[in-house]
Amino acid sequence: MNAASMAITGIAELTTNTDEFGVLHDAALVIEGERVSWVGPSRSVPDADRRVDVGGRAVLPGWVDSHTHLVFAGDRTAEFAARMNGVPYSAGGIRTTVEATRVASDGLLAENLHRLRAEALRQGTTYLETKTGYGLTVADEKRCAALAAEAVDEVTFLGAHVVPADFTPDSYVDLVCGPMLGAVAEHVRWIDVFCETGAFDAAQSARVLQAGRAHGLGLRIHGNQLGPGPGVQLAVSHAAASVDHCTHLTDADIEALAASTTVATLLPACDLSTRQPLAPARRLLDAGARIALATNANPGSSYTTSMAYCVTTAVLQMGLTLPEALWAATAGGAQALAHDLSAPGAVGVLRPGARADLHILDAPAAIHLAYRPGIPLTWSVWHRGEPAHP
Ligand code: NIG
Repeated sequence: MNAASMAITGIAELTTNTDEFGVLHDAALVIEGERVSWVGPSRSVPDADRRVDVGGRAVLPGWVDSHTHLVFAGDRTAEFAARMNGVPYSAGGIRTTVEATRVASDGLLAENLHRLRAEALRQGTTYLETKTGYGLTVADEKRCAALAAEAVDEVTFLGAHVVPADFTPDSYVDLVCGPMLGAVAEHVRWIDVFCETGAFDAAQSARVLQAGRAHGLGLRIHGNQLGPGPGVQLAVSHAAASVDHCTHLTDADIEALAASTTVATLLPACDLSTRQPLAPARRLLDAGARIALATNANPGSSYTTSMAYCVTTAVLQMGLTLPEALWAATAGGAQALAHDLSAPGAVGVLRPGARADLHILDAPAAIHLAYRPGIPLTWSVWHRGEPAHP
């Protein structure tokens, strides 16, 4: 038996992402079960069991946030305040969160994770990746991975986040690539490594990626965050799905990304919070590279789940057009997670067969996200064909 159908009508502007920046005006769509079954002009909407009129508002695919670190405990407000007073960001703050996370109960970690997941959903994020990386022992990485797998869509193993006390970098990489990877593998889809001065060098990062690949995991890298470095070239040479941050890129890095399928995932909220320059989004797109926008929600370098803030920043300060920024925050995020945008159940697009994840704005057009910066514009969110907020 077919699922009941629901027609969403009265859409002033519908961003579909089906024809690169496909936008329809005076549009409607029909949902059956968890999926979109029809998209087109209002005047031709087929009969449906139920109808919801959204009153001339803009509809977009739900945000796809492809980079977060939500499994943590503790507070780094003082570190942030000191940074705003001129103390530079360094990866050392990660250890503060590691200490708090190790002593937190599973219940507390799960509560924090669900609170942030719900906060993101209320703002239109309907698909979300998160990482481990604040446990850094076999037992703590395993429990963080298991808790994450209960709460989000995709989980990344980031045991190689920083080197804990009592290890040399190489002895810690042995642990990450051996017992730790074996313990988390059942819960995760991806492996990641923080390839940066003060974390892991190119050779250590390559070992982590190769061990992950041998376990059947997809590859992603934190690279070129705090300065130029080998992260981008390593990502491209390993055909990683994504290299994340990309704040400090050389011309050769941009050329390499443009010639590859690796997505450059840009994290503008992190660049601002750490007082780094904003990633060169315009140069990447002009060169032909693929980009995504994500929040990097975490307690140290970027404590926000707001994809709208990232889109607004990308338009107002990074030289992207609104359609480019919307694409990067929806379909681009899905590509950074190696999704096929035309597959049944696809996220980040609104086409027949796609997952019915809708973000409805209290505005007639999506450009209001940049035109009215800082105004909460989410009117309602649909997740898997059901109203999820309010
Ligand atoms: O993506 N770069 C490494 N990891 C996080 C930072 C996490 C932290 O400061 O706690 C990031 O910015």
